[in-house]
Amino acid sequence: MACSFSVRTPSADATRELAARLAAAARRGDVVVLQGLLGAGKTTFAQGFARGLGVEGPVTSPTFTLVRQYPCALGQLLHADLYRLDHLAEVADLGLADLAEDGVVLVEWGDVARPALGPVTWTVSIARTEGGDDDRVVTVSGGDETRCGEVAAALDARTGGA
Ligand SMILES: Nc1ncnc2c1ncn2[C@@H]1O[C@H](COP(=O)(O)OP(=O)(O)O)[C@@H](O)[C@H]1O
Ligand SMILES: [Mg+2]
Repeated sequence: MACSFSVRTPSADATRELAARLAAAARRGDVVVLQGLLGAGKTTFAQGFARGLGVEGPVTSPTFTLVRQYPCALGQLLHADLYRLDHLAEVADLGLADLAEDGVVLVEWGDVARPALGPVTWTVSIARTEGGDDDRVVTVSGGDETRCGEVAAALDARTGGA
């Protein structure tokens, strides 16, 4: 793992804002895996990430459709939710790794599907904390070393620099 950053977000909007900042550092071909329990804030993060890529209109959970696609600044944003898939073969059928060539792929519950995803650029883990109902810790890890500085700057900006 090249780098890892943790940021505390006290509200859903703070998580969206953080995600938008990460999106500003995204590149075509990136695959981002979102980890965290049900209700942690994966879809909320995806909403901010999409906004950061210039997606207009609502971004809703793809739990039942598996994949939603939005035109964005880098081509297509693919937002997938693999929660209901039981078999790696089903994930492979979605062809997410190939679709990343046309833009950026964001995958909720993607951790179990890593073998079918191809290289993952960033892993974002979202966890509740003891700080209260709306408090989360968002950890962004992975990337290659050439991009760590850029992403650190993007995420630090949100916390006022540290
Ligand atoms: N700091 C926070 N970050 C993200 N979501 C939060 C936060 N605080 C409260 N929430 C709420 O938690 C819920 C997260 O739901 P969702 O994003 O659908 O989770 P998941 O996709 O991980 O199941 C939303 O209702 C959201 O408004
Ligand atoms: Mg979700």
